[in-house]
Amino acid sequence: MKILVVNGPNLNLLGTREPAIYGTETLGDILGKINEFAAEQGVEITHFQSNVEGELVNVIGAARAEMDGIVINPAAFTHTSAALRDAIAACGLPVVEVHISNTHQREGFRHTSLTAAVCLGQIMGFGGYGYILALQALLKGIKESA
Ligand code: DQA
Repeated sequence: MKILVVNGPNLNLLGTREPAIYGTETLGDILGKINEFAAEQGVEITHFQSNVEGELVNVIGAARAEMDGIVINPAAFTHTSAALRDAIAACGLPVVEVHISNTHQREGFRHTSLTAAVCLGQIMGFGGYGYILALQALLKGIKESA
């Protein structure tokens, strides 16, 4: 089983970025925990982070041929990117959306996700642990559809 974990803009700054909202875990810390959990499940993780919308679209498009599913935190593109939504819809893979913060407790523009409707589901508000929850939910979804 091969799962792609995608992180959008500014998530490379986790650890020092607005720690009151996002905590002090770095992206490396979170990835370490994802890899540990994935190894226990016999799952292979590929990680990709970019601040560039087109690069995220490209990696999702390429995943179609190589991966079994995607966990994605589209970050601010969640609220703005029809291109990312279309890429998720087109890739034909099960996708779970994750957010570190509970975006519904924040500014109004964060209450809308353009991407959630083309995902299996969405997990938010549980910090870095949300990625593990997202991976668990994705693996369950893949198994149930097999
Ligand atoms: C985020 C929430 C988004 O609104 C924000 O733009 C981010 C991070 C989260 O993980 O909580 O960059 O996706």
